[in-house]
Amino acid sequence: MNKIKIMTVFGTRPEAIKMAPLIKELAKDPEHFSVKNIITAQHREMLDQVLNIFQIKPDYDLDIMEQNQTLSKITTKVILALDEIFIKEKPDLILVHGDTTTTFAAALSAFYHQIAIGHVEAGLRTWDKYSPFPEEMNRQMVDDLTDLYFAPTEKNYNNLVSEHKKKEQIFITGNTGIDALKYTVNDNFASSEFKGLDFSKKIILLTAHRRENQGEKMEKMFEAILSVVKSDSNLQLVYPVHRSPAVQKAAHDVFDHENQVKLINPLDVVHFHNLLKRSFLVLSDSGGIQEEAPALNKPVLVLRDTTERPEAVQTGAIKLVGTDPAVIKKTMIELINHPEEYQQMAEAKNPYGDGEASQRIIEAIKAHFGLITDRPKNFS
Ligand code: UD1
Ligand code: UDP
Repeated sequence: MNKIKIMTVFGTRPEAIKMAPLIKELAKDPEHFSVKNIITAQHREMLDQVLNIFQIKPDYDLDIMEQNQTLSKITTKVILALDEIFIKEKPDLILVHGDTTTTFAAALSAFYHQIAIGHVEAGLRTWDKYSPFPEEMNRQMVDDLTDLYFAPTEKNYNNLVSEHKKKEQIFITGNTGIDALKYTVNDNFASSEFKGLDFSKKIILLTAHRRENQGEKMEKMFEAILSVVKSDSNLQLVYPVHRSPAVQKAAHDVFDHENQVKLINPLDVVHFHNLLKRSFLVLSDSGGIQEEAPALNKPVLVLRDTTERPEAVQTGAIKLVGTDPAVIKKTMIELINHPEEYQQMAEAKNPYGDGEASQRIIEAIKAHFGLITDRPKNFS
């Protein structure tokens, strides 16, 4: 057959970080693939940071972001803008990632145009409609529309099979987020951007942005964290604050003028991964960080009531602490004061990838389009 015409569609920081290694690998095989990248720019600055690092030039930039945007606005803007592009370009396959509203809207639009959909990071589930919100339903709806499922783990595969998705359409690939670490992490990394940080102290790295936690719930969590940090002068809390106005408000209301806390702008992914590597402990409600931190031997306390990433809870690399301030405090104190417990978490296995997920996805696409006969070997 002619080249496979692929269009990627993504719009937020985490999608970009996890699509970038795949885009880079696809570009190495121009004989078989013609690839165009559509960014929705659901995020603007935080997306552009990733594009700069990986030197990805979008072919289309929908530039949809608005301050305090609503889910309906994101969805409708993306669907309408993609209409024109899909009619003009007629790709054989679109690739989307994960569970954002960009992902859902792009999959729905591709379905309307009867274009095949490849879902990178398919099959993650909490089975709880409102947690995380709206991501759980985004990924379920995307998986109902998907033709090629790139499931990071066996558990994700089983979730899809339990929903009667066809086994021959599902590939267990590992997570491309682990591939990204090969591009970013450097043992000798140093940067003037870190000059305000005191690496002689134990760095607790915080990230939080989930919509379902915003408002008073988030402030109470932050207050609990602050009280633990203030109880030990050897701790330093570093928080690259997400640009969401609701998150900015909670972070500044609680942490401003606290001298053991550094509120900083979102870091580009190279800086962030290397800071992660030098941190003592991670507190986060992020999805991707639950995967990256175990690969860098950093324990994570997950500030959420549910996780679609139970594998690392099972290996012991992360703990689901929830959003109750008392539980957050107690768990932090336990971990800080018990080096053996800390060590067990730090040394637990990373179940999410071996850095070869993009390769497996490319082989899966080739197998699907009949360019090779064998399916890729599963990640295990
Ligand atoms: C989105 C995703 C979430 C993902 C997160 C990663 C949805 C519904 N949510 O949540 O799944 O975990 O991204 O970070 O798809 N903003 C800026 N500049 C930026 C980015 C955001 O100013 O570069 C501000 C804007 O005011 C924007 C707001 O943040 O309206 C919220 O952005 P949005 O993408 O709607 O939600 P996130 O919470 O970022
Ligand atoms: N990240 C980053 N800079 C930061 C904070 C996070 O590059 O200041 C990266 C992080 O390494 C991970 C991704 O952003 O790859 C996670 O994004 P986020 O937490 O916003 O979204 P989620 O993964 O929850 O969807």
